Amino acid sequence: MSDDAFGELMSSLNPPLVVVTTAVARKRAGCLVGFHTQSSIDPSRYSIWLSKANYTYRLAVQSRYFAVHFLQRADMQLAERFGTLSGNDTDKFQDLDVGAGPDGVPLLSACPHRLVARRTALLDEGGDHVCVVADVVFAESPAEFEPLRLSQAEQLDPGHGNEERQQPGG
Ligand SMILES: Cc1cc2nc3c(=O)[nH]c(=O)nc-3n(C[C@H](O)[C@H](O)[C@H](O)COP(=O)(O)O)c2cc1C
Repeated sequence: MSDDAFGELMSSLNPPLVVVTTAVARKRAGCLVGFHTQSSIDPSRYSIWLSKANYTYRLAVQSRYFAVHFLQRADMQLAERFGTLSGNDTDKFQDLDVGAGPDGVPLLSACPHRLVARRTALLDEGGDHVCVVADVVFAESPAEFEPLRLSQAEQLDPGHGNEERQQPGG
């Protein structure tokens, strides 16, 4: 299988983009995520995949609650902030209107289409991302919306490359 074919196949699916946030001990983190999906109907579960290179991943291994904010077409600036900056050296929440959910999980007021979920499992099967499986605690979506999709954000340079993740034994 060629890497190009796999990449083209995946990008032709043109997934919607979300901002995933979490918090632990008053520390907040969040990043732009394209790897995410519903993973159970009953119970309601949602899964997201976080890169081991990300600051958000490092908080996520200790946190319990995650907010998944579904971006709209007009949310390009939020996509850029959460997808290209890193919590390693920036407070991405500065100057944003942010509420607090369970355990202080950040809720972005600008993103009314969202869910909050409590982690039930963290799966690391050796790839460059880990899977967070979570029970949906609540979801809200005040009206229909047009999601921001990968094809609109392809020019964004992610805050980390895969090579930044800690290697096994590293
Ligand atoms: C279009 C796009 C999609 C992305 N998808 C994911 C993803 O599915 N999972 C992930 O962990 N990071 C993803 N990223 C990368 C992070 O959002 C990015 O590296 C961010 O700067 C990490 O911030 P942090 O270090 O504060 O966690 C994506 C970035 C872009 C631009």
